[in-house]
Amino acid sequence: MDKRRLRTALGRFATGVTIVSCVDEGGRWVGLTVSSFSSLSLEPPLVLWSLRQESPNLAAFEAAPRFAVNVLAEAQIGLSRRFASSHDHRFGEGEWALGAHGQPVLKDAVAVFECETVTRQDAGDHRLYIGRVLAFAEHAHAPLLYRSGHYHSLGETL
Ligand SMILES: Cc1cc2nc3c(=O)[nH]c(=O)nc-3n(C[C@H](O)[C@H](O)[C@H](O)COP(=O)(O)O)c2cc1C
Repeated sequence: MDKRRLRTALGRFATGVTIVSCVDEGGRWVGLTVSSFSSLSLEPPLVLWSLRQESPNLAAFEAAPRFAVNVLAEAQIGLSRRFASSHDHRFGEGEWALGAHGQPVLKDAVAVFECETVTRQDAGDHRLYIGRVLAFAEHAHAPLLYRSGHYHSLGETL
């Protein structure tokens, strides 16, 4: 299979953009930009996302009992870039605070889901996390979108 073409084809699927966060065993805040987030079940309320196996943050998400998914607004494009880079102080930008379940949550995000990790599973070169939603919040801000390696804003309602 031509991996480059597969990557291109997969990239045609437009997604939202999130920052998934947790607190590691030493109390350090951890987070990265993630577009693999998806809703999975309403009853019980489950969501999923995946992390590349080589991520230096894998150990933190393996040990953490909970994580938060922060769905980014268009105006938060800078945070998406920051949390996808090798920046040392990722949480230095944006209004971050600990949520009701102890995870770093972003003020003014389109939505925030604080989750308890219920499943961790290897999935090829990624690790799949399924979380049960413990608490959530949402705002009607314009969402940030991602497709074919570029950021986009929402178009017209069809
Ligand atoms: C729009 C976008 C979506 C991304 N989605 C994911 C994802 O779903 N899973 C993942 O492991 N990395 C994803 N990444 C890459 C990580 O954000 C990037 O590798 C980051 O540096 C990871 O942080 P770490 O190296 O500290 O783990 C995405 C990057 C961007 C720009």
